[in-house]
Amino acid sequence: MSASPLVGILMGSKSDWETMQHTALTLKGLAVPFVAHVASAHRTPEKVVAFCQGAEDRGIKVIIAAAGGAAHLAGVCASKTHLPVLGVPMKGWATEGLDALLATVQMPAGIPVGTLAIGKAGAINAALLAVSILSLGDSSLRARYLAFRQAQQEKALADDDLVLP
Ligand code: RP5
Repeated sequence: MSASPLVGILMGSKSDWETMQHTALTLKGLAVPFVAHVASAHRTPEKVVAFCQGAEDRGIKVIIAAAGGAAHLAGVCASKTHLPVLGVPMKGWATEGLDALLATVQMPAGIPVGTLAIGKAGAINAALLAVSILSLGDSSLRARYLAFRQAQQEKALADDDLVLP
């Protein structure tokens, strides 16, 4: 996207993109400009810190951080910026994402991370929660978000018509 990014997506590995593309697609669908980077709390911590420390100056208002396993990325982001940080636990390789969920959600008091569900649902909801936050100060985005929710509700009602004869 060419407009100045409002959301910064960080993921611990390129392997997270299969899931996190749903964050990007959801933001794109609501015309919210974003940037997405691979940056790991363990493999490339300096890159994570530099991104978070520079985020506010470049106009980013929400950071979405996705990681699997010992998922420290969102917490490290939150330690380096006062901007809202939303964490998405990735499924990983051993415990279906429970390890990442606990690592992301169990922040010590004082440094909050808003933690979403494991995997695709969390990836989509992180984008929608970012949109909800941004909508507080953007009436045209608010209108697009309300239209999205309305369309979703209408589709769910129509789906029920298909199920019940
Ligand atoms: C985490 O380890 C990443 O966020 C990813 O979910 C997981 C596995 O990474 P790769 O070994 O696939 O690069 O840091």
